Amino acid sequence: MGKALIIGAGGVSNVVVHKCCQNSDIFTEICIASRTLSKCEAIKNSVKNSKTKIQTAQLDADNTNEVIELINKFKPNIVINVALPYQDLTIMDACLATKVDYVDTANYEPLDTAKFEYKWQWAYKERFEQAGITALLGSGFDPGVTGVFSAHAMKHHFDEIHYIDILDANAGDHGYPFATNFNPEINIREITANGRYFENGEFIETPPLSVKKVYDFPELGEKDMYLLYHEELESLAVNIKGIKRIRFFMTFSQKYLTHLNVLENVGMTSIEPIDFEGQQIVPLQFLKAVLPDPSSLGERTKGKTNIGCIFQGVKDGKPKTYYVYNVCVHEDCYAEVGSQAISYTTGVPAMIGAMLVMTGKWKKPGVFNVEEFDPDPFMDALNKWGLPWKEDHNPKLVD
Ligand SMILES: NC(=O)c1ccc[n+]([C@@H]2O[C@H](COP(=O)([O-])OP(=O)(O)OC[C@H]3O[C@@H](n4cnc5c(N)ncnc54)[C@H](OP(=O)(O)O)[C@@H]3O)[C@@H](O)[C@H]2O)c1
Repeated sequence: MGKALIIGAGGVSNVVVHKCCQNSDIFTEICIASRTLSKCEAIKNSVKNSKTKIQTAQLDADNTNEVIELINKFKPNIVINVALPYQDLTIMDACLATKVDYVDTANYEPLDTAKFEYKWQWAYKERFEQAGITALLGSGFDPGVTGVFSAHAMKHHFDEIHYIDILDANAGDHGYPFATNFNPEINIREITANGRYFENGEFIETPPLSVKKVYDFPELGEKDMYLLYHEELESLAVNIKGIKRIRFFMTFSQKYLTHLNVLENVGMTSIEPIDFEGQQIVPLQFLKAVLPDPSSLGERTKGKTNIGCIFQGVKDGKPKTYYVYNVCVHEDCYAEVGSQAISYTTGVPAMIGAMLVMTGKWKKPGVFNVEEFDPDPFMDALNKWGLPWKEDHNPKLVD
């Protein structure tokens, strides 16, 4: 069917590549392009028995002209951006210049401010409309599948949704005292920021990790979880009409939080550059360099993740609750594609989003979040491509 340019060669990219190569009727050719060519080559060499043709390229995606040049050379139908959120705008600029569709999994965040917002990418809407191309934003798990779950609940189970609680639990153990499951810099910036949730038309801020709840997760058991701000709250607050409250909770172990506290207290999570022996370094970037590489965790990680959404609302005049979630097993992901479940649960939806745009099912000019499209083909594809979902029509609620 067509060609995809996959930018980035980290944990998520590895899964996207493997999944595209399993789906070679759609992805006949791919190019893996990233800052470090050897990482692209390593991913390419890890793929066995696929009809998809794979090329690699060295690319600095901070440089729009380099991206344009590569797009003109490879001529993809779509660009799948699984580099870092800092590259979103330069890659979108290149897509505009070459009129190629775009998919990503994380919204833009300036390098020097730990604040992610959709406003920068939503500002491209008219230009993408005029160019006749699609930008699909946030097609990972959260954001991504959580938005598709919300559109599915709205379409099939509710007349009005009033409350959404998004619950992200990871009961995996990699055996290290402290490591992050995806890019440590992005991950720690997210967790050390103020919590924020949407209620009655406005966002309410809470100090970092100050709201704790305990939830008994299907297949995982009881876990401590903490209220965080997460980017899909911004788009769901706009796209789910009549919504009164949306919260996002993520599980952390006490051991993880103790390490994070110490690192924060000694200044290692700061993004302010400091002078070190005559050289400017950013403490958080240095920390990233000494922590285990997330892509190396796969082999060691055992256990399950459970990510899903609990909805409360009204159907046919009666109150209703509904929980839809996916349980993913770290060891199974590693056996299949050589990555742990966090990369897997992000990479599979990125491939599905790209497939739906390429096949025309989710293609329309403009910039969109996943919940703005028909959820049915995405929900079917989740079952087919490795992230089957389960439902509970009488779930325990978060108090
Ligand atoms: N929606 C979700 O559910 C979800 C969940 C997890 C992650 N994510 C997102 O997924 C993305 C990838 O995460 P990851 O864990 O795979 O990260 P990662 O392992 O750090 O990989 C990032 C890759 O991007 C490359 N890169 C960075 N800057 C670049 C540049 N200027 N030009 C070209 N390539 C560049 C890196 O190159 P080097 O190898 O040379 O450093 C690396 O290969 C991130 O944006 C993350 O926020 C989304």
